[in-house]
Parts: sequence; structure tokens; C-alpha cells
Amino acid sequence: MARTVFLGTGHYLPDKVVTNADLAKMFDTSDEWIVQRTGIKERRYVDFEKEPMGSSELGARAARAALADAGVSKDEVDLIIYGTLSPDKAFPGDGVLIQAKLDVPAGVPALDVRNQCSGFLYMLSVADAFIKAGTYKRVLVIGAETHSTGIEFADRGRDVTVIFGDGGAAALLGPGDDDAERGVLSVHLHADGRYWQELHLSYPSSAEMPRATPEKVAAGAHWPQMNGRTVFKHAVSRMPEAVHEALDANGLSTSDIKLLIPHQANQRITEMVQRRLELRDDQVFSNIAKYGNTTAASIPLALDEAVKEGRISRGDLVCLVAFGSGFTWGSALIRW
Ligand code: ACO
Repeated sequence: MARTVFLGTGHYLPDKVVTNADLAKMFDTSDEWIVQRTGIKERRYVDFEKEPMGSSELGARAARAALADAGVSKDEVDLIIYGTLSPDKAFPGDGVLIQAKLDVPAGVPALDVRNQCSGFLYMLSVADAFIKAGTYKRVLVIGAETHSTGIEFADRGRDVTVIFGDGGAAALLGPGDDDAERGVLSVHLHADGRYWQELHLSYPSSAEMPRATPEKVAAGAHWPQMNGRTVFKHAVSRMPEAVHEALDANGLSTSDIKLLIPHQANQRITEMVQRRLELRDDQVFSNIAKYGNTTAASIPLALDEAVKEGRISRGDLVCLVAFGSGFTWGSALIRW
């Protein structure tokens, strides 16, 4: 059976660079605190004065770049899968907005995935299953986030605010040659919903009547909440576990990995995962210093940069691993 291969990758980042010093002008924080705790030096935000846009536009621009990279027309796309935790609208899902922006032909399905930082792996598993089954041949997988409109620029929300950045990234997937070894070897997914309260944004809510009140908004119920220490603790055990699960399933070991592309959550998480897996520096990709945590866009953005920087060549073993809100986590192995 033909394996799923990456036909092209691409990304789009807004031009506006926001440094730690810029944030320190808005609330009580410092470059030193942010760099030491997270490794983040700057992030990108949509510039609402110059060119306002939401996640679907970031995603559409990234998708155009991935299609151009693959040399495939939007008319050949036969499935769109889109992941975000910061959609333009409560409904419909942004997948259809991206379909309309790209002018992908009417009738092509658009699926929305809501798995936060693990979103790309959940999307990849769906794309891989459809491609292996022969249902679809050109699957556009997109992750994009506009975090900057959903975080609190005040002392109260500073632990969350300093971490996240805006951006979009995409990959076009399709079947490889029948006899080729290259392609997606495996995707392993996990979730443990008992921990949803450790990182969430729960307002407005369909479980409340009315869904939103000015009083609750004034009290800040619409900002994300994070228990950073618990997230950290679980991330640094679940991510190495998921990498070992992928390697074991394929009879491979950590020394076979050319490049580990972890979800760019926090540099300290990445460093601890690297230590626990006993990987060399050149085996681990990181771009969090430039972009912060872009959630559903983080892995495809890192993957696109790694490919364009020549860090991955044909035949290399690439491992993707993620952990995030839910909790959700997973891993994928790809023979590039
Ligand atoms: N600037 C300055 N001080 C801050 C900031 C900030 N941005 N945020 C919190 N502080 C203060 C706190 O108020 C606290 O002050 P206090 O001691 O006077 O009470 C102090 O710093 C320490 O706070 P902690 O929350 O204990 O700091 P910690 O060392 O745990 O670091 C952090 C916080 C960076 C959030 C850490 O817990 C972490 O990295 N967690 C992982 C979270 C993560 O990566 N989330 C990403 C999303 S999920 C994912 O993608 C996996």
C-alpha cells in the first residue's frame, strides 16, 4: 500500500514583531523572566491597524504557500482539514472560510479539528487514514492561530500572554509511490480529558444561560486559564513516552532520528524532552525564540522551516511530537 507523503509545505506569519521588551511596556514582566522560563524572545502578531485578519486568513495564506511548494492547483485539492483554537467564528468551522478564500471547488469537504497544540498530529492521522484508504489524493492540512486577540495584556494573564504568537502553516499530503519506503510510518494519538481544566478557555459557553454577560466578561471569564506547572510536568513525560511508542512500533531507536520536531510549547519543555530522549542538539529543531507558541501552526511551521533550511533530506527519519490542552498528545514518524 502506498504511504502518505508530504507533497509541499508552507507558512505565513504576520510582519509585526513583538519583543519581550514590547510586552514589558504593557504589563509587569521582563525579557529576562520570559527568556529564562520559556526561551521566547519575540513573536508575531496580526497588525490590526495596518491589515486586520483572523486565523482563517493566516491559514489561507499558508495554504497557498504549501500548494505553490507542491506545484499543485487548488482545483486538485479533494479534502481540507483545518485546526485552530482561535477560529474567526463560533460556527461554521473556519475550514469552509478557507475553502472560500482559496476558491477550492464547491463540493470538496472541509473538516475542522479542535485539538489545540496536538492539532497537527490529529489532522495528520485523519489525512493519512483517508489517503491510505484511497478516498482522497490531495489533502490540504492547515493550522493557524490568532492568539493576540484572545490573551490578556495585564498582570493577571501574563503567564499565558508571553507564551503565544500568531501564525499559520500548512502541508499538502498525498499518496507516494506504491513501492517506495518513504512516507508517514505511523501516527499515535492520545488524550486524557480529566485534565481539561489545566489549560482552557471556557467562556462564552453553551452550558450557561445566557452564554455571555457583560458582568462575566468584565470579570475576565473570556481569557484563557493555565496551570503552567501541571502542564509542564505532564508535557515532559508524555512527549518522550510518545516518541518511544512511535519508535518501538517501527522497530527503530532514538539514534535513527535525524530530526525531532516537537510542538514549540516552551524551550524548557523541549530541552527536558531532548535530555530524557538523550538526543544531540542537532537532532532537535527549535524556532520558539522567534515565534512563541503558535499551537496548531507550530509543528507545520517548524517542519516547513526545517525543510527549507535543509535540515531534512530524502530518506531521513523525522519524528513529530506534541502535547497540549485537553490533555492531548501524540507522535508521528515520517521517512522523508
Ligand atoms: N512575567 C513575570 N513574572 C511572571 C510572569 C511573567 N510573564 N508570569 C508569571 N510570573 C510570576 C508569577 O506571578 C510568580 O510570582 P510569585 O512568585 O510572586 O507568585 C512567579 O512568576 C513564578 O510563577 P510560576 O507560575 O510558579 O512560574 P513557573 O516557573 O512555573 O513558570 C511558566 C511559569 C513559564 C508558565 C511555566 O509553568 C511553564 O513553562 N509551563 C508550561 C506551560 C506551557 O508551556 N504552556 C504552553 C501551552 S501548552 C503546550 O503547548 C504544551
